[in-house]
Amino acid sequence: MAKLNVNGAVRDFEAEGDTPLLWVLREQLGLTGTKYGCGIAACGACTVHIDGVPTRSCVRPVSTVAATEKILTIEGLSPDGSHPVQKAWAALDVPQCGYCQCGMIMAATALLRDKPNPTDADIDGAMTNICRCGTYNRIRAAIKVVAQGGNTKSAALAIRHADGSTT
Ligand code: FES
Ligand code: FES
Repeated sequence: MAKLNVNGAVRDFEAEGDTPLLWVLREQLGLTGTKYGCGIAACGACTVHIDGVPTRSCVRPVSTVAATEKILTIEGLSPDGSHPVQKAWAALDVPQCGYCQCGMIMAATALLRDKPNPTDADIDGAMTNICRCGTYNRIRAAIKVVAQGGNTKSAALAIRHADGSTT
């Protein structure tokens, strides 16, 4: 029985060594927030952090992840969706179908940790994930909202929400 340190807990699993980390997370540990998109490290839907580094788990053999390395998935980001990145995503209605968004949020979280006030070039460099719904503009705006301490007015998107509020 092999072990992984996921979201602060040591978890047992059994898999061939060349099994991608993504499938151990989803199928053995039940952490289905991390998504399969392309399987070739192109789309970023499978992004998790390993010791803080955003990593495409679809191409990472599980045998190459030591039990001492700390894996963070979207489920471990906050217990109740209250991480500042998640709150900005919700406030700006970023997700459309939502499929890519867990990977986007994990990439954005790492970016904002390293660069709390990222430039457009920083965002372009870090956010290489693909969204087939085309939510890129709102992702950029939400990252800037986080950088502004959660001030949704700074997004200036003029989104009118169902409750009548605007951001
Ligand atoms: S599923 Fe891993 S990068 Fe697309
Ligand atoms: S929100 Fe649909 S793929 Fe990104």
